[in-house]
Amino acid sequence: MNDKHTHLTWWKQAIGYIIYPSAFKDENGDGVGDLRGIISKLDYLRDLGVDLLWICPFFKSPMDDNGYDVSDYRQIDPRFGTNEDFDLLIKEAHSRNIRIVVDFVLNHTSDEHPWFIEARNTPQSSKRNYYLMQPPRYVNGKRMPPNNWKGFFSTSAWSFDEVSDAYYMHIFSKKMPDVNWANPLLREEYYKIAKYYLDKGVDGFRLDALAHLARDLTFQDSKYPLDENGLAFDMSKYSNRPELFDYMRELNQRVFSHYDCVTIGEVGGGISPEESLKLSGYENGSISMVFNFDTAWENGAYDSINKSDEQISTNVIKLKNNFARWHRICDGKAWMPLYWDNHDHPRVLSQYGSVAFRKQSAKMLITTLLFMYGTPFIYYGDEIGMSNVDYQDINDFNDVSARNFLAENSGKYNLETLLRFLRRTSRVNARTPMQWSGELHAGFSNVPPQQKVNGNYQEVNVKDQLDDEDSILRYYQKAIALRKEATMRQSVLFGPFSFIDIDNSDVFAYKHEGMRKIAVISNFRAKNVTFAIDFTIKKVLLHNYKDNKIQETAILLRPFECYLFEIE
Ligand code: GLC
Repeated sequence: MNDKHTHLTWWKQAIGYIIYPSAFKDENGDGVGDLRGIISKLDYLRDLGVDLLWICPFFKSPMDDNGYDVSDYRQIDPRFGTNEDFDLLIKEAHSRNIRIVVDFVLNHTSDEHPWFIEARNTPQSSKRNYYLMQPPRYVNGKRMPPNNWKGFFSTSAWSFDEVSDAYYMHIFSKKMPDVNWANPLLREEYYKIAKYYLDKGVDGFRLDALAHLARDLTFQDSKYPLDENGLAFDMSKYSNRPELFDYMRELNQRVFSHYDCVTIGEVGGGISPEESLKLSGYENGSISMVFNFDTAWENGAYDSINKSDEQISTNVIKLKNNFARWHRICDGKAWMPLYWDNHDHPRVLSQYGSVAFRKQSAKMLITTLLFMYGTPFIYYGDEIGMSNVDYQDINDFNDVSARNFLAENSGKYNLETLLRFLRRTSRVNARTPMQWSGELHAGFSNVPPQQKVNGNYQEVNVKDQLDDEDSILRYYQKAIALRKEATMRQSVLFGPFSFIDIDNSDVFAYKHEGMRKIAVISNFRAKNVTFAIDFTIKKVLLHNYKDNKIQETAILLRPFECYLFEIE
């Protein structure tokens, strides 16, 4: 096997944990989570067994997109704390052997960033070419954007700027102008920022919206079908284009390769596993691993506005095939992360598990993920079985993408349908305060949190679960500890991996045949299923029910029942 593959870096051994800082823990009593809040929970995280924190952005920002709109990369936003708090966080985390990975937003800035202010106010400024500014098109005397491209947040990818009489490109919100990576001066700015954080002691970056850094600079119209506003949603105009790989190579040569850091790229935009090797492949790649979205929406919720709840069901075969395809193409050639959800997705318990079987399905989901391959990332709150929101008021879906979605769709659907869809798909589902206890505001804050707490916090919270040996949280601790045993880690990361009965439409099952031979069997349904086995069980290592229904050649699996076996 490739030496670069088997070389066990710290981040290959790590168990990652994703924190959405505004929702994790509020220490200063303003209803928003902060860095001191994270510091106060480092012991909790160490005891959980995680040792790599990816923290979503906490830099100075007008918060149009909750911090993904950065107006000063070198300043911590006051609502999250101070630069000194961040230094303290790094120090305190490192003293517990926990690494810190920051979310680096390099596709766009805030429109309040000094670069953009200068670009729009001073047409002769060199900052102008930091962005993608284009003159208007006039059609029958009417001012129009340069082309028909649509962005990710339901609007045109262009907004007009009166001050400079030009359109600027933004694939996300209009307060987030895209930056121009074709400009070497702009690239230089980002290298300096990356070095600044690495020199401070951060252990790496999650590279936000990485797939989109290169665009079709001819700015020609897309030939895709147009929506009712004359816009074409054609990601190929700004996703995974050839120059992206050159930009990343340079960023690696200039910065990353000089540090022992991890770089985790977000590659939405429909990248194929083959293409992803150009980014993370051991041979020619430039970053440590890429996050794809192919395993995140396999219950059909994504485009489900017209579907009833009964029509939402996990396509277990497709889900397994997506994991299998990425593994087949990347195994031995590139490192891979494993995750169920993050701050842009609904809660996995609501996606693939079941609120009615919260305990069983939460335990089943982590067992399935943890023993597959690659570096696992747990999303905060999943370790206690947090689920989608129960909001009744549409205004509680306080997020720029939900607001733009509503602006586009409010006239087309009734309120109940819109609410049902947002409760199923909105990113807000994954951004509610961490449920630390059953006390007021879920122990997250001593004032009403800015984002409303999920109504189930008295039933689902850390404090109660720490006191209960059979809880989801205690199960996570056990499962992570087991996954970190050296022989287990070796088998999971490098042992030959194969699905068992990949065509089974209810059960997700696989084997690792390394130093230790293991098998995971997980029922993804809320019903009993019989699963045939062709291996000999040596020992049950993890199980989410009290008694076994194992027969000689088959197992009767109850709703969301799962096993981790040591096998012959
Ligand atoms: C990424 C982030 C998402 C954000 C977007 C724009 O997709 O994960 O939360 O809205 O980039 O920065």
